[in-house]
Amino acid sequence: MSVRSEIERRKTFAIVSHPDAGKTTLTEKLLLFGGAIHVAGAVKSNKIKKTATSDFMEIERQRGISVATSVMGFDYDGYKVNILDTPGHQDFQEDTFRTLTAVDSVIIVIDAAKGVEPQTEKLMSVCRMRKTPVIVFVNKMDRPSEDTFMLLEEIEKQLQIATRPLSWPISSGPDFKGVYNLFNSTLQLFNPNVQTIEKNIAFDNLNDKELERWISPADAETLREDVELIEGVYPEFDAQDYLKGELAPVFFGSALYNFGVQELLDSFVKIAPTPRTSTAAERTVDPYEEAFSGFVFKIHANIDPNHRSRIAFVKVCSGKFERNKVYKHTRLNKQFRISAPTAFMASKKETVDEAYPGDIVGVPDTGNFIIGDTLTEGEDLHFKGLPSFSPEMFRYIENADPMKSKQLEKGIDQLMDEGVAQLFTSQLNNRKIIGCVGQLQFEVIQYRLEHEYGAKCRFEPIQMHKACWIESDDPKLIEEFKKRKVQRMATDKQGRNVFMADSSFILQMAQQDFKEIRFHFTSEF
Ligand code: G4P
Repeated sequence: MSVRSEIERRKTFAIVSHPDAGKTTLTEKLLLFGGAIHVAGAVKSNKIKKTATSDFMEIERQRGISVATSVMGFDYDGYKVNILDTPGHQDFQEDTFRTLTAVDSVIIVIDAAKGVEPQTEKLMSVCRMRKTPVIVFVNKMDRPSEDTFMLLEEIEKQLQIATRPLSWPISSGPDFKGVYNLFNSTLQLFNPNVQTIEKNIAFDNLNDKELERWISPADAETLREDVELIEGVYPEFDAQDYLKGELAPVFFGSALYNFGVQELLDSFVKIAPTPRTSTAAERTVDPYEEAFSGFVFKIHANIDPNHRSRIAFVKVCSGKFERNKVYKHTRLNKQFRISAPTAFMASKKETVDEAYPGDIVGVPDTGNFIIGDTLTEGEDLHFKGLPSFSPEMFRYIENADPMKSKQLEKGIDQLMDEGVAQLFTSQLNNRKIIGCVGQLQFEVIQYRLEHEYGAKCRFEPIQMHKACWIESDDPKLIEEFKKRKVQRMATDKQGRNVFMADSSFILQMAQQDFKEIRFHFTSEF
């Protein structure tokens, strides 16, 4: 198969949702229908349940599982589908956001009874920013749910995207009868007792009295009215609008009961985008370019405590990746031969000889990679758009075992490279400050330092509002600022100046007093 046809058959996407909407269940069912797994339950949830925030063993176990299930690839109907898993817990949403930079489209799962939830909104805002095409799957239709038109209105308003239903539910909850597929005019009837779709009936003309053979006259009447309304209100589905990220097709179903999943998958492979262009600081990179390029979007410490190695997840952006070929690590300006790259098929990891745009390659790493690193055949490219985060919680990190200070330093260093949190060093007294977006991250850091590096740490509170990276065209101004704010100045891992504002008032004052200084709230600017 030519490189072009390999690229054209790839569909790389992530499933995201507010916790509990059904992301894990839907992922598993897609793998079932895709033939990648054969029994339900094969994919373990990698979410950390809300109730288990302090269950470290659980975190460890799930970290292990999430290496295996981070990427699940399978062949379906001639397509190569790559599903990228994302953590469910909101304390790890940075991980999710980074994963979104490596996909070409997204399926958002919404709980029919709960509608749009806060996490859904946040995730959608990242998709909107990146113009990522989004499909909405309204799950749990077997439970009583909101009125469908109201729900669509809510999705449009809260997710700020136009919607177009491609299937339509017939009632919900105990009365749920199935869906009418507006895309290919078929009726799918739901039977909760049978874990398969019972009937898949072609139905071009809903006015046909035959409809009453399958559903009650009242349901048939409602369906006719609803479909008439949809066709009156919504313009015909235009796949181009979806591909531009301006329109979200909506499907309804019940992942738990395998309902609506196959039709989602069938429509998905038809309409979802093939690998898109990627933006590097230097230029836009087209997947069909001959030379290989890719970037690291995730780093995972190996779960095996006897091996300190890590896996860097590289998204192939252009060309063909080949095992044992020498590639340039553009940040380090060094050549690397990757002799044991892995690919991820279903929940198995296997060595791979080649990979194409859209694919994710696991590269064993001994500490050379950090998130955002670019690999090329020689060109100096640096891929952009990996979101960095404005930390919201801060703690001093102190050594709790003086005999292990080397281990602690190494551990902190490596965990920061993995993107677990951000490290700042006070310019006043060299104390180290960790910035996170979720409380759970502190617990994970403490646990992993102890178990992976044999180091003990202690966190101490610090009064802090925001970390701001400061920049100015006038170096003298920066020096003056640093002198004035000497108590609150820190350095990030790259040695850049960061102002650690202790309150929003102080920050405002600083911004007023130093109008020529630019204050950035994330490390990427
Ligand atoms: P998440 O990854 O988005 O967090 O959600 P997950 O798939 O784990 O689903 C959350 C809960 O919702 C699970 O129940 C799951 O069985 C249930 N669920 C998923 N899809 C459907 C659906 O279509 N209909 C109904 N009625 N329930 C659904 P749980 O009790 O939390 O976990 P479990 O013990 O069943 O695994």
